Amino acid sequence: MFNPDTITRFNNTETPFYYYDMGVLNQTLQACHNASAKYGFHVHYALKANFNPKVLDMVRSFGFGADCVSGNEVKAAVEHGFSKTQVVFAGVGKSDKEINLALDTDIFCFNVESVQELYIINELAKAKNKTAKVAIRINPNVDAHTHHFITTGLDENKFGVNTWQLSEVIEALRACPNIQFLGVHFHIGSQITDMEVYKSLCIRINEIQTWFEDHGFTVKVLNAGGGLGVDYHNPDTNTISDFESYFKVFKDFLNVRADQEVHFELGRALVAQCASLVSRVLYVKNGQKKNFLVLDAGMTELIRPMLYQAYHEIENLTQKSQPQTRDLKYDVVGPICESTDCFRKDVDLPESFRGDLIAVRTAGAYGEVMASGYNLRDRVQSVYSD
Ligand code: LLP
Repeated sequence: MFNPDTITRFNNTETPFYYYDMGVLNQTLQACHNASAKYGFHVHYALKANFNPKVLDMVRSFGFGADCVSGNEVKAAVEHGFSKTQVVFAGVGKSDKEINLALDTDIFCFNVESVQELYIINELAKAKNKTAKVAIRINPNVDAHTHHFITTGLDENKFGVNTWQLSEVIEALRACPNIQFLGVHFHIGSQITDMEVYKSLCIRINEIQTWFEDHGFTVKVLNAGGGLGVDYHNPDTNTISDFESYFKVFKDFLNVRADQEVHFELGRALVAQCASLVSRVLYVKNGQKKNFLVLDAGMTELIRPMLYQAYHEIENLTQKSQPQTRDLKYDVVGPICESTDCFRKDVDLPESFRGDLIAVRTAGAYGEVMASGYNLRDRVQSVYSD
């Protein structure tokens, strides 16, 4: 990701910034495209992971659809050339304004998260003399074995409807003439690397689709959501997620009917490895028990370590190429007035100095998009390999 020319270029660039390696993005998208196209699976890119315009343009060029969770994401997807017939719209709290926008856009499908939402979409569609196509988001109660902050598929979650509410769902579907039932939708969590979890999901999807069929519904769409994880520990040696194994699990374990479509909503696995947050050491504080590297980037630029105790590799790009004298342990912290503003404690790094460039790796997903203006910080900039 970083060759000497890149580092020279960084030396002349104001920090902090997100550095996008467009080659890595391209290779990742190609790998996902190849692995999914083999089975005719439809992949929608989850814009929430990263809606940087250059990223969106490249994702779209591979023919992926868009998975949106706000009216503005629906708008951005269409503006960036994603086909409206490939836009799905999820979200536990879609406002009337957002539903109306999606209806006006004639999107492919609403992923509906409650019975009440179904009635509201029906009402708003009726007012426009339209029919809204929907998939019902169901909690399959599958444990994703991921961090509890980003698991979503267990019972009693704010997302989706639970299986014991399905009778109510079909009652509502029968009572809503401006709703067209397309199928079922699931999303059990994020950063999932254990393929057994997806196998369990397939088994639950099979049971649930049979239940709908037994009640007289044709299930045209099976949407398995997203969640495929990436290797945060080895960004250079294991850059591309195992798309082959991932899609093969669904090929092997999902009971796909004739004329049925299988959809996915991947975010992280497509974009995480293509970007790093690059910052400079502002100050080095050598304490009695601890050394601190104070960076010019913090939780306002990348909040994942602080919010989810997420692990990101940290590298000193300046010292990397120098003959080393010694390694030290540092707490790598940001400038924000919060003690939680720490990227990681006890990081082994070459002895570091004011002005050194530090890269926080695997920051392409849920990085730039979750940046905030807290402390009235400047908006973080982006730099691209091309
Ligand atoms: N579909 C739905 C309905 C979702 O809620 C999500 C992510 C995705 C697809 C895409 O999931 P992915 O393939 O990226 O795992 N900010 C957290 C992650 C939150 C995920 C939210 N939902 C993080 O930085 O780890």
